Amino acid sequence: MAATEVDLSSLPPGPGGPSVLTAARFLLRGSHFLEACHERYGPVFTIRLNTGRTVVIAGDPAIAKEVFQGRPDDLHAGAGNVILKPILGGRSVLLLDGPEHLRQRRLMLPPFHGERMRAYGETMREVAERHVATWPVGRAFSVHPSMQAITLEIILRTVFGVEEPERIERLAEPMKRLLNSTDQPLRLLLLQLTRSAGAKPRSPWGRVYALMAPVDALIHEQIAARRAAGGQDPDRDDILSLLLSARDEDGEGLTDAELRDELMTLLLAGHETTATALAWTIERLVRTPRVLQRLREEVEAGESTDYLDATIKEALRLRPVVPGVIRQLQRPLTIGGMHLPAGVNVAPSIYLIHRRPDIYPEPQAFRPERFLGEDVPSTYEWLPFGGGIRRCLGASFALYEMRIVLDTVLRRATLETTDAAAEPVKRRFVTFTPRDGGRVRVAQLTPAQQPARVAV
Ligand code: HEM
Repeated sequence: MAATEVDLSSLPPGPGGPSVLTAARFLLRGSHFLEACHERYGPVFTIRLNTGRTVVIAGDPAIAKEVFQGRPDDLHAGAGNVILKPILGGRSVLLLDGPEHLRQRRLMLPPFHGERMRAYGETMREVAERHVATWPVGRAFSVHPSMQAITLEIILRTVFGVEEPERIERLAEPMKRLLNSTDQPLRLLLLQLTRSAGAKPRSPWGRVYALMAPVDALIHEQIAARRAAGGQDPDRDDILSLLLSARDEDGEGLTDAELRDELMTLLLAGHETTATALAWTIERLVRTPRVLQRLREEVEAGESTDYLDATIKEALRLRPVVPGVIRQLQRPLTIGGMHLPAGVNVAPSIYLIHRRPDIYPEPQAFRPERFLGEDVPSTYEWLPFGGGIRRCLGASFALYEMRIVLDTVLRRATLETTDAAAEPVKRRFVTFTPRDGGRVRVAQLTPAQQPARVAV
């Protein structure tokens, strides 16, 4: 639906001026822009982007609740993720809406069920141990690239079932370059402003396509190899094998084209986000000695993961990797008392909701204790994975992986604390990352001798 047909007079106020400037501020100064708008207009405001889109940004959990509980037919998410289409493909679960989205999501959900994650724990720990063992001692370095290598290898092994180190290496390099090509917000703005279809080789999208080609080739190779082996092999528990045997109510499975788009989606959505969340957690930990100390004691005692889980939740609160989600209204709706016309987008702001002092007293403080005990924030107050029928498919996977990787880091590496200023937030594609990649110094590395005492 074209936003230009829309009557905008009933929308909450927001920054005026040329829409291209608003888009530039939104992309280049993401967190500052949200905070500045919040200060000036309050928790709910309207922005107009150069793509012709009008977005009501809502730092209000009551509005998030209405949006997440709304009918999926009325509130489309696919349109909001359209910038990802040239990479993920049109059949990605992130881009579909309505019955097609539900079908695809149902087919993909079972392998991501919470309990199943335990099967992947051993692989996750083995990968984390191997990478942490290579960290330098006594010299500052950025932890983000190592976290990316860890989460990428975990996805390749658990989702794709790739085991051979040379195949992992073959995919890792182009994948890294593909992601780095969207690292600079200015380049991202260029991508937004230029057409992806029919892109020339030296154009911004042409470069992205060139980097995608080897990743695509490997994905197709992997699908073909599994099909040739006759679908599901009972000895394999990787997610691709499970997806190959998934059937909808009509007995139909996923086509190769659907599988390609879903694997690319899992690869992108699944590793970059988790790596960034891990880097932010470490960035916060080394600046909060009290929390780091309490966490070390819990890990050493090996009796519980309560404080570790609370630390992960607090890191995802204070530094949410995905700052917001977006839904486009397919018909006029009243949300949060606002009469919103069809075509307008509503975006529950994860970033702003997580910083509300009425929910999180002293919101800037990194305090995992907020997530211990009875009185913990509700589903619409802590929402790093979005919500409703579109809630992140990999949320259990990500939380489990973060627990294992951080447990490994705390066991093996003695992290030095620092009084350096907090790293500013930088946009990387649709995520907010630490500008310097989470700088750390390791005082000592302890080699792995015995397995973890507590079953994380
Ligand atoms: C800390 C790590 C992660 C964060 C912060 C995160 C965040 C999100 C968010 C905010 C959404 C959009 C939800 C909405 O629109 O309401 C989403 C969707 C999604 N995520 Fe994640 N994610 C993470 C890890 C993962 C992992 C590990 C996977 C898979 C292996 C994954 C797969 C997906 C998929 C497939 C969707 C689309 C769901 C749908 O549209 O039905 N994510 N994620």
